[in-house]
Amino acid sequence: MTSTDTPRAAQGKLGILLPGLGAVATTMIAGAVAARKGLAKPVGSLTQMGHIRLGKRTEGRYPLIKDLAPLAGLDDLVFGGWDIYADNVYQAALNAGVLEPRLLEQVRPELERVKPMTAVFDKSYVRNLDGTHVKQGATKADLAEQLMADIRRFQQENGCDRLVMVWCGSTERYIEPGDVHASLEAFELGLLTNDPLIAPSMLYAYAAIKCGVPFANGAPNLTCDVPALIELAQERGVPIAGKDFKTGQTLMKTILAPGLEARALGIKGWFSTNILGNRDGLVLDDPENFRTKEVSKLSVLEQVLKPELRPDLYGDLYHKVRINYYPPHGDNKESWDNIDIFGWMGYPMQIKVNFLCRDSILAAPIVLDLALFLDLAQRADMSGIQEWLSFYFKSPQTAEGLPPEHDLFKQLIKLQNTLRHMMGEDLITHLGLDYYQDLVDAL
Ligand SMILES: NC(=O)c1ccc[n+]([C@@H]2O[C@H](COP(=O)([O-])OP(=O)(O)OC[C@H]3O[C@@H](n4cnc5c(N)ncnc54)[C@H](O)[C@@H]3O)[C@@H](O)[C@H]2O)c1
Repeated sequence: MTSTDTPRAAQGKLGILLPGLGAVATTMIAGAVAARKGLAKPVGSLTQMGHIRLGKRTEGRYPLIKDLAPLAGLDDLVFGGWDIYADNVYQAALNAGVLEPRLLEQVRPELERVKPMTAVFDKSYVRNLDGTHVKQGATKADLAEQLMADIRRFQQENGCDRLVMVWCGSTERYIEPGDVHASLEAFELGLLTNDPLIAPSMLYAYAAIKCGVPFANGAPNLTCDVPALIELAQERGVPIAGKDFKTGQTLMKTILAPGLEARALGIKGWFSTNILGNRDGLVLDDPENFRTKEVSKLSVLEQVLKPELRPDLYGDLYHKVRINYYPPHGDNKESWDNIDIFGWMGYPMQIKVNFLCRDSILAAPIVLDLALFLDLAQRADMSGIQEWLSFYFKSPQTAEGLPPEHDLFKQLIKLQNTLRHMMGEDLITHLGLDYYQDLVDAL
């Protein structure tokens, strides 16, 4: 990731393109429009409600982040996207059942206007869905071209100055990076020869980056986390980020685990189970798709606790993650965590967390923030992997060989310092010795 300049001003309209207009995407769009009309507050969004400290604690400077950095305003956003179903965003939001019909009715005209473009879909990647609103093409190269044509048409028809894309589509089946992902040349050959390891989400990422559109991946699929697309992003000067929105149980995990580790408390076992009944839950009911999610969720504890460095505290940790599809709960996921910890002299203790969360309510502000921050990054000439946005991801994408940072608070410091750096403000180290030196000097 490179930064050369303070960001250019956010002039004109920003188009937010979302492959996958399901629960998360429609909740974000409806919420952004409702917030624009003053009907509800965009709670959970740093770009809308977050503050940032500047300078010394004694200076009392805590502006809103949006007053520090030139972010696109809610009034300047235009929404679009693709889905394998033809429902407009109003219908899709009603079906998703996250927001109340009463709220949706108040933003109905704006939502009805957003109609999905036909999707690039491959059932072998998501066996539990059957879509009809899909593109046909002889090769994957041809399908990618069709997506690029969609992007250009959308930009022109909506008079957008800039675009960003955030993948909100279903979780695809698990694949490992292969030869076809190893370089841009191999990838482009694979597009022409219909290589089965090029997933639909990769075609969206490829099309976006080719068009100079920043791209973030909200699902655990590889998508842009392969050398070929990183190379393309660097070549085109486009910021990218991923993967898998950090909501619900993993959010709690990356709040709790760093706290326990910070106090050198041991952990013997962490059993996490969830029930959820939305379409995401249905897709994850397929073991191949669950595997993608499992890999993303499991890595978190190892990275935070580093058992190899602290075998006495975490060497025997048993970590299990389960997701169960349970239709009656809809989007209202319920998760249980049983954490077996131990303290002084090895004495055992237990923590139980029962989180009755609303998945899409937690994910929607992340989509908005990622879109606005990626747009900001592009205007600051930052390109390639944007590790400062790890804060939003379960499985943060980093440069090859660089271990990701999972601790939510370290991620926040990184995000805030990046904003300070961009805006020419002093970085904050939290050392704080200077306050005490000042007192001594004053004597
Ligand atoms: N809700 C959360 O808290 C959360 C957290 C982390 C990650 N995610 C991920 O975000 C994604 C969206 O979650 P959701 O709850 O909105 O799911 P959802 O099932 O409601 O929406 C996904 C949408 O993507 C569409 N889709 C599938 N393949 C597509 C393709 N190739 N092109 C275009 N559209 C396609 C589906 O038809 C569906 O409408 C999922 O991958 C999920 O795993 C969600």
